[in-house]
Amino acid sequence: MTEGPDRWHRWLIDVRHGGDAAAREQLLTGLLYPVRDHLLDKAQLRPGDTLLDVGAGDGLIAFGALDRLGPSGRVIFSDVSQDLLDHCREAAADGGALARCSFVLGSADSLTGVADASADVVTTRSVLIYVQDKAAALREFCRVLRPGGRVSLFEPINRLMSGDPDRLLGYDMRPVAALAEKITALYESIQPRATGPMGNFDDRDLVRCAESAGFPEIGLELQVSVKATKQPCPWEVFLRMSGNPLIPPFGEALDRALTTREATEFSDYLRPLVESGTGQERTAFAYLTAVKD
Ligand SMILES: C[S@@+](CC[C@H](N)C(=O)[O-])C[C@H]1O[C@@H](n2cnc3c(N)ncnc32)[C@H](O)[C@@H]1O
Repeated sequence: MTEGPDRWHRWLIDVRHGGDAAAREQLLTGLLYPVRDHLLDKAQLRPGDTLLDVGAGDGLIAFGALDRLGPSGRVIFSDVSQDLLDHCREAAADGGALARCSFVLGSADSLTGVADASADVVTTRSVLIYVQDKAAALREFCRVLRPGGRVSLFEPINRLMSGDPDRLLGYDMRPVAALAEKITALYESIQPRATGPMGNFDDRDLVRCAESAGFPEIGLELQVSVKATKQPCPWEVFLRMSGNPLIPPFGEALDRALTTREATEFSDYLRPLVESGTGQERTAFAYLTAVKD
C-alpha cells in the first residue's frame, strides 16, 4: 500500500480549496494570479534570466516566470516536497518546457543544491511563513544571486491579520465563545501563534533580515485590507478546507476539539454565517524586493 502524496502536495492540490473546482478558480483569479503578476512585475525579469523559485509548490510563480523569460530563460524549481517537484516536472514536460527547467529538493534556509552566484532572480511566495529562521533564508538568497541579482518575495503577515479576539477565521464567535476557545486551543497546540514560523515575524522583520543578509537595496510594499463581508462558501467545502498544510481541515478540527453535541451546536451556529459570507475578511500582505551589489 502506498502512503500517497505528502501534506504539502495534498494541501496545494486539494485541501486549500476543499477539493472544490469553483473554490479553486475563485482562489486563483481572486487572489493568486494577481499576487503572482505583481510579484513578477516587481522582479523586473529580463529575457534569458535564470530564476530560482524557492518553495515552488505546484508552480504558480515558476511557470508564470517561464512564460515571461522567453526561450533562453531558465527556471530552477526548489521545494522541500519531492511530490510537488515531481508534479512540476510533469507539468513542465507536458508544456514542452522541460529543457528550460531544473528541480532542486531543499529548504529555503539551506539551499545546498544551488551554487553560489548562479541565479539572476530569486522569487518566493508564502514560503518564509513556514521557515523558522527567515534570516538564514535571506542569506541563502543573497549567496545564490549573481551581483546585481534581485529578490522578489511575498508573504502574508499574520500578526497584522488577527485583530479581534472575538472572531475565529473572521466569524463572530461571541454566541459560542467557549466552544470557539476549544478549537483555538487545538490550533494553538499544533501551531503556536507567537513563537511558530507563521507568527514570529512582521513586514519590518523581513526588511531587517534582508538588510542583515547584505542586500544594500530593499523595497517593501505592505497591503492591508479589512472587509465587512466574506466570500460565501458551501458548508461541506468549508469543512474540507484548512488554512495551511500543517493544521487539520476545519471539519476534522471540530471532531478533535469538541464532543459530538458541542460540534452540532457549533455547526448549527456557524453554518449560516459561512454560507452567507457573514464575517470579516482581513488580509495583510508584504511584497519585498532586494538587489544584491
Ligand atoms: C503555500 S505553498 C506556496 C507554493 C508556491 N510558492 C505558490 O506560490 O503557490 C508553500 C510551499 O512552501 C514549501 N515549503 C515548506 N517549507 C519549506 C522550506 N522550509 N523551504 C522551502 N520550501 C518550503 C511547501 O512544500 C509548499 O510548496
